[in-house]
Amino acid sequence: MITNETTFAIIKPDAVQDNIAGFIIYLIELNKFKILELKKVQLTRKEAEEFYDIHKDRPFFNELVEYMISGPVILMALERENAINAWRELMGATDPKNAAMGTIRKMFGKSIGSNATHGSDSPETAKRELGIFFPNLK
Ligand code: CMP
Repeated sequence: MITNETTFAIIKPDAVQDNIAGFIIYLIELNKFKILELKKVQLTRKEAEEFYDIHKDRPFFNELVEYMISGPVILMALERENAINAWRELMGATDPKNAAMGTIRKMFGKSIGSNATHGSDSPETAKRELGIFFPNLK
């Protein structure tokens, strides 16, 4: 039996700015994800701070928040079998330098901060992140 899972994804400001959001969405669809929700928004500082709250004591927190509010982002709810891990594999390692060939971050990430995309790292995180931006998702 196939059990579907839903994860939360962001196409980050640098990727939207570079006009590669459409290509990333194409890769998402090629990899058999169903896009349950999608919206293009400009995050507020408050939203970015809440979203990355878990990193608030890290030295890069301010840089991360500034970057995430520097331009529009695309937020998505993605459904697939094993969606959380499948999206993380398609994105590649957080630092593009360490990402495998063919992954989104290898192809488009510029640095550990400007790394093109975000994805939930566990079922608990996915639930929390989807709840923040898609509270009406079934
Ligand atoms: P993301 O998957 O969105 O989750 C947290 C983000 O923090 C991560 O991707 C990176 O873009 C960012 N990040 C992690 N480490 C650093 C760092 N050392 N400097 C700047 N940003 C970082």
